Amino acid sequence: MRKLIIAIDGPSGAGKGTIARTLAQALGYRHIDTGAMYRAIGWKAAFDGIPLDDERAVADLAQRADLVVEGDVVSIDGHDVTGAIRSTEIDKAATSVARLPRVREVLVARQRRCGEGGGVVMEGRDIGTVVFPTADVKIYLDASAEERARRRAGDTAHTSGRAGREAVAASIAARDKADTTRAVSPLTVAADAVHIDTTGMPIDQVVEKVMTLVRQRSS
Ligand code: DC
Repeated sequence: MRKLIIAIDGPSGAGKGTIARTLAQALGYRHIDTGAMYRAIGWKAAFDGIPLDDERAVADLAQRADLVVEGDVVSIDGHDVTGAIRSTEIDKAATSVARLPRVREVLVARQRRCGEGGGVVMEGRDIGTVVFPTADVKIYLDASAEERARRRAGDTAHTSGRAGREAVAASIAARDKADTTRAVSPLTVAADAVHIDTTGMPIDQVVEKVMTLVRQRSS
């Protein structure tokens, strides 16, 4: 069977991680979480004391970094940051560095190198629009703001899992606004993406829907 490139985009808390991971496992594909890349760069900039708006310095850091995002394990320059990047502080740092065009250029190039051979499920905000505009399958996952806040508030891998629902909803709304209004590669639905609203939908139903699309495209 042909090894596909599957792009999954959408806002925070839409279920991208769970769906991408389950799909990759079922297909024997690699799962690449590109949000984790922006988070790791935000973490390392903070660790090195680099201001998050110093575009040149953050882009240089991203260019030089030994960045590994494999499955759920994330490391940068020898630091295992798998847990550390899921904090409310790094939520903000990642959103800040994701605004910088030169940082995006560097990370998009890395993402293309990771996925070019196919056999990959890549999740993010601009995978179907910018990173792989010719991806074999493009999914845009969404859910109501309330449901996304509820899911994120219950996410124990994320420190916001210990914060109140209202604080989580406010933080998600702020990041959504930044991600959809930034000048470069804002979050938008690719014209040829299949839009799935996962509000109230059990995970296995979403996976089945996506698997049907994958089977159609790979035959
Ligand atoms: O998916 P996430 O919450 O881990 O993403 C962290 C930040 O990075 C968020 O502000 C969106 C941004 N991002 C992006 O701009 N482009 C991507 N391909 C992935 C994430």
